[in-house]
Amino acid sequence: MTSLTQKLSALVGAAFEGQGLAKELGLVRVSDRPDLAQYQCNGAMAAAKQAKKNPREVAQNILDALEGNAAFSKLEIAGPGFINLNITDDFLKSHIEGSQNFGVTAISPSEKVVLDYGGPNIAKAMHVGHLRAAIIGDSVRRIMLFAGYDVLGDVHMGDWGTHMGMLIADYLRLDEAHLVLETDINDAASVHALMEDMAARYPKASGEAKENASLKAEALEATVKLQNREQPYYGIWEKIRDVSVAGMKETYARLGVHFDLWKGEADVHDYIAPMVEEMKTKGIAEESDGALVVHVVDEDDNKKIPPMILYKRDGAVMYGTTDCATIVERVKLYNPSKMVYVVDQRQALHFEQVFRAVRKADIVNDHTELTHAGFGTMNGKDGKPFKTREGGVMRLEDLIQMATDKAYARLDEANLAADMDAHERSDVAHKVAIAAIKFADLQNQRQADYVFDLDRLTSFEGKTGPYLLYQAVRIKSLLNKARDAGITLEGELIVEEGNRELLLLMTQFPEALQLSINGYAPHHLCEYVFKMAQAFSSFYGNCHILSEADEALKVSRLKLCEMTVAQLEKILELLGIYAPTRM
Ligand code: ARG
Repeated sequence: MTSLTQKLSALVGAAFEGQGLAKELGLVRVSDRPDLAQYQCNGAMAAAKQAKKNPREVAQNILDALEGNAAFSKLEIAGPGFINLNITDDFLKSHIEGSQNFGVTAISPSEKVVLDYGGPNIAKAMHVGHLRAAIIGDSVRRIMLFAGYDVLGDVHMGDWGTHMGMLIADYLRLDEAHLVLETDINDAASVHALMEDMAARYPKASGEAKENASLKAEALEATVKLQNREQPYYGIWEKIRDVSVAGMKETYARLGVHFDLWKGEADVHDYIAPMVEEMKTKGIAEESDGALVVHVVDEDDNKKIPPMILYKRDGAVMYGTTDCATIVERVKLYNPSKMVYVVDQRQALHFEQVFRAVRKADIVNDHTELTHAGFGTMNGKDGKPFKTREGGVMRLEDLIQMATDKAYARLDEANLAADMDAHERSDVAHKVAIAAIKFADLQNQRQADYVFDLDRLTSFEGKTGPYLLYQAVRIKSLLNKARDAGITLEGELIVEEGNRELLLLMTQFPEALQLSINGYAPHHLCEYVFKMAQAFSSFYGNCHILSEADEALKVSRLKLCEMTVAQLEKILELLGIYAPTRM
């Protein structure tokens, strides 16, 4: 299936070809000046430059060739040689009627993609930094899946570093390992108790180790023993991991974030030694000051890229080492054409080092895409990274709870969900909270920092998730009323003054989707879905629907409502947002 602008580009491109010019010059896009025309083509300018001709003359020849084509209701030259185009209502209607799957064609053949957007560290509470990764990454996963990619989302937990050794050493030294081992994974209270214990214990142990060299040495020794899978270290670690995973799964489920793979750094441990051996054989892993490193500088670097450390002097493996080994595993198990990391922008250097190291070591081939899709910081209203009121790290669980409380208050204020029982009302409040959090995050350009302003983002007005939910619910309730009144939606879609803008906009979904895929950037879809909701509002303001006396118009308008809400909900789903049936 071809998008509307692709069809128009083909028509105009053929006209260029007919003049002995490249058909690519006929590229048509949505007009920058909707007051002048629906579409524009700037190819005559470029063509004239190449052929040293007058651009208006070239444009005129193109228009002459297109004259009489049933697709166009207006063909005009503007300014120095821009071509302005409007399409006929019939052309618009038949394009829409011929579109399936909202005009989106799945890529073929499919391509395998590994998406890395988790990164929570076991034994630690998840914090808001993990929220952005999850929200953006899960949306990218949904978007690419919808576009036909074969996507594997990996949570890639941080579960193998010195922080684990430190924690285990502390339990053993205080003779409290039973607190871990006796935890009942099927009992939420028991899981919660251990999570709390670990969350308090880790900073304590880490602080003590900074002061006390022998505690530090003990922690390091425990890390090495753990990595050699010695007991009781490994047994304690396994339990900690299982309990943490149970906690994480619950949090991600509340957020509606899905992972296909629940792997962690520990899973790739056995790939490290052979990988390093091979790097040594190839001569790219080198001794430096007792450590083993890979030099990743490039001649054209304009900033300093330090070597990536494989083994520290004390023999511990580093963050970069596990990330390289993870790529070894991903190539071996899935052989993806793209590996994309949705991780904090501040880790850009780390990924630069890792990507260079694996390319140097020929772990991936030249065609494999490696991308760090970095994101900015979520700040508080003070412009500093979002914290609790006391200045501590805000936990993800607490943030979701805050948003949910606020959603309840908003529903009260707007007198919504008033006649519902507690169960339904809590479902609506949860959906509003998730929509608020996710849309506030996703609407920003990925790399930008943004301010988390709970009052603003939970509002039912403005560019917010709750506003979009409200629009979707309003349309659904209109359709329910029509159904209750016995109106069937049999009849034709009629393009009219009051709905043309909405219909034209609805045909632009494939382009917005493509932009989001190209940049791993859901904000394009956010922008688009918000415009759609606004265009629907204008249509709703322009046209009577249930009160329309003309039956054919009434049915056409209801059909448009049905199409709009289906497309709206599809896009919201791609953003990980779900509308309730009523509100
Ligand atoms: N665990 C890391 C952190 O909390 C994030 C991991 C991101 N993913 C990766 N493959 N390095 O900072």
